[in-house]
Amino acid sequence: MHCHGYLVHYLSLAMILAGLGNLINHKKVQPVYGRYVGSSPPAKVVPARLAWFLQEMPSFLVPLLLMLTWHKPSSTGKYLLLGTFCTHYFQRTFVYSLLSRGKPVPLVVMGSAGLFCSVNGFLQAHYLLHCAHFDDQWSADYRFKTGLVLFYIGMAINIHSDYILRNLRKPGEIDYKIPTEGLFEYVSGANYLGEIMEWFGYAAATWSLPALSFAVFSLCFIGPRAVYHHRFYLEKFKDYPRSRQALIPFIF
Ligand SMILES: NC(=O)c1ccc[n+]([C@@H]2O[C@H](COP(=O)([O-])OP(=O)(O)OC[C@H]3O[C@@H](n4cnc5c(N)ncnc54)[C@H](OP(=O)(O)O)[C@@H]3O)[C@@H](O)[C@H]2O)c1
Repeated sequence: MHCHGYLVHYLSLAMILAGLGNLINHKKVQPVYGRYVGSSPPAKVVPARLAWFLQEMPSFLVPLLLMLTWHKPSSTGKYLLLGTFCTHYFQRTFVYSLLSRGKPVPLVVMGSAGLFCSVNGFLQAHYLLHCAHFDDQWSADYRFKTGLVLFYIGMAINIHSDYILRNLRKPGEIDYKIPTEGLFEYVSGANYLGEIMEWFGYAAATWSLPALSFAVFSLCFIGPRAVYHHRFYLEKFKDYPRSRQALIPFIF
């Protein structure tokens, strides 16, 4: 497949605009899943494990399919895709999803997330496989190195924080408890902080518009969610640690 530069450009801009739109309108159009579903959930919901598995899978499968139908034996773009984006979505699809103890997900939320993961999986893979040109020195570049370090630290924080949240509940429980340990000692949205670090690290390591647009989208989508979670804890728990911030330790 040759590079569809215009498509990459427009999809990237659309993703940034969608993220900024969510940031501006988040009070009106917060995606309603998890604790925000309320006492009368929509009629059509999907069990959490199945929903997360199905919705996240395209971000793993689409890059994999593009890689299998690609004939160049090796390139920096391919290894970056495998080592970052695909690694994240392998974990999200085959580990996170299948261990979830979360609430059923509204069908419409699962559908939108699945569509997003399909388009984003295509965008990131198409760009890195068919459009990107990294010179031989790229792996020695400070943007590549610091980007990868940020990505892997972020991924470790994200996985560890999701593990902490999952273990707050025994199987069958649906109540919310105060998360402790790890970065939750500093912020209410520790899993989101890790995820945002991952995608900004990925953007630095690939130095590309599609990766930057995904990082901006993630910040605009889960940043407000961290703020809502923080408010939720402050309202629900009188003994919630007052020094804890929403998303950025000691600052915000
Ligand atoms: N890149 C992106 O744009 C993007 C977008 C969305 C999500 N994500 C990632 O996907 C993962 C899940 O996101 P999310 O929005 O579902 O996270 P979340 O609201 O923090 O929930 C994560 C899981 O932990 C449970 N949980 C959360 N707080 C809890 C508490 N205090 N006590 C007991 N259980 C608790 C939730 O149960 P309930 O379902 O019952 O609430 C859910 O199963 C995160 O790693 C996030 O970074 C990424």
